[in-house]
Amino acid sequence: MSSATDQPSSSDPAPWWRRGVVYQVYVRSFADADGDGTGDINGLRARLPYLQRLGIDAIWINPWYRSPLADGGYDVADYRSIEPRYGTIDDAERLIAEAHDHDIRVIADLVPNHTSDQHAWFREAVAAAPGDPVRDRYHIRDGRGPDGSQPPNDWSSVFGGPAWRRLPDGQWYLHLFAPEQPDLNWENEEVRREFDAVLRFWLDRNIDGFRIDVAHGLVKDMSFPDLGTAGVEILGTPREANHPHWDRDAIHEIVRRWRAVLDGYDGDRMMVAEAWVQPHRLPMYLRPDEYHQSFNFDFLEAPWDATTFRDIVSAATEAVVDIGSTSTWVLSNHDVMRELTRYGLPNGTNWRSWPTTGPAELLDVERGRPRARAAAMLLLGLPGSAYIYQGQELGLPEVWDLPVEVLDDPVWKRSGHTRKGRDGCRVPLPWAPDGPSLGFGDGPAWLPQPPDWAELSVEVQESDAGSSLVLYRTALELRRRWAMADEAMSFIDGLGPNGFGYRRGSGLACVVNFGETAIDLPDHQQILLSSGDTAADGTLAPDTAVWLR
Ligand code: NOJ
Repeated sequence: MSSATDQPSSSDPAPWWRRGVVYQVYVRSFADADGDGTGDINGLRARLPYLQRLGIDAIWINPWYRSPLADGGYDVADYRSIEPRYGTIDDAERLIAEAHDHDIRVIADLVPNHTSDQHAWFREAVAAAPGDPVRDRYHIRDGRGPDGSQPPNDWSSVFGGPAWRRLPDGQWYLHLFAPEQPDLNWENEEVRREFDAVLRFWLDRNIDGFRIDVAHGLVKDMSFPDLGTAGVEILGTPREANHPHWDRDAIHEIVRRWRAVLDGYDGDRMMVAEAWVQPHRLPMYLRPDEYHQSFNFDFLEAPWDATTFRDIVSAATEAVVDIGSTSTWVLSNHDVMRELTRYGLPNGTNWRSWPTTGPAELLDVERGRPRARAAAMLLLGLPGSAYIYQGQELGLPEVWDLPVEVLDDPVWKRSGHTRKGRDGCRVPLPWAPDGPSLGFGDGPAWLPQPPDWAELSVEVQESDAGSSLVLYRTALELRRRWAMADEAMSFIDGLGPNGFGYRRGSGLACVVNFGETAIDLPDHQQILLSSGDTAADGTLAPDTAVWLR
């Protein structure tokens, strides 16, 4: 691997989020300061120097609010307090202040589509009689059939099974996710006012932004028509127009209301949407008075193929140009199989079901590893912002073979044991080559780490110039100098069917070889960085990326 960090650098006038690199912290699995096996805020505080050295601009912390953790914290019992296993509100305030001292912004995760069934509002609703106004904060309705014993309609939960559960008094409540996550009724003004106040609560505590969960949800067709389809995929995009519970037009007035709250604060506070919508609908979410950004999940779904990647980059950059937004690139997150393992499976494999269905022999980790390194360079050189999921910088694979006894994701149970779910990408990070949880904490971790993760630990990778960690650090440093000055980009032609490349305004060029044989590099003065061995003869090896100038 070769690298150079000379020139040009720039002082960036754009708001930080337009080009920032955001590191996603799954707090439960990041670092455990108190040794109870669960990651916590103090563990994260202790690792801020690591994150600063990595060279990121912000952290997005998955939900840290008080929660029974029926869905990893996306079941919030109190939006104004911290889950005791993670710490206290004082710890959160200290974390925000210390992150700022390390030049790191902090994005919280807001979950407005549903609460926990342990939220005070839902408990109050369950205790109240049918027709009581406190029930109107949720979708609680009579069932169908002469005795109301059938659910109000045929909607399915994203995690499997029906989307309705019956209360002891015979009425039914809607839960598009787990039964422990009742959907809020966003037609109810009290719900709207409450979330304005929750936003202010965290903005007053100097939070820099919000990742909005299920941003395409919230609003339901209040006539609750049958859908007539079998189910919904957790990370799938609704195909139907005018869907009764996804991507409804009335969502946008809620977003505008939130935006007005954020705009009332100083600093570049931002909101990023988790919106699974059709590409032509996405720009609506990014209008100047709505979200600042929305995740582009297309890389997550893409096979290892040059044309596919080029088409994705082309479509995404074009889509945001007219509305003045930027793309937001994502290879991985806490909901999907880690990319090293995805790229180790043959193109076309359904990686959501493969951990259960196999066969195991399909996986070639040695093929996935160089591809994950190349994909990182492809992502980090692009204009717009980039999201890195914790452990991605370490080149962690998916732990797809976790024993079923330890699985915690509701997907496993609700899919009738046909999908193992998302625990395999949530295994606690290895910080050191030894100890009861490889430096994660002083005791065993809440999910077991594979013993060979010792070699992937931060401590081991720190001193290995060829490690994934060093590649990410070097790329992030070069990105500041070469890929941040402006948002200009053009494609490099003539690389053949398996080559994909682009050139940035600064003169940086990124070329990736998706094929099985070497390709010729375009003319260049210098190789700034390579994800693998660069041949002296001016060719680029398979599954390798380079940054040239
Ligand atoms: C999307 C989150 O990323 C996922 O982890 C969660 O299960 C669902 N939203 C429900 O909140």
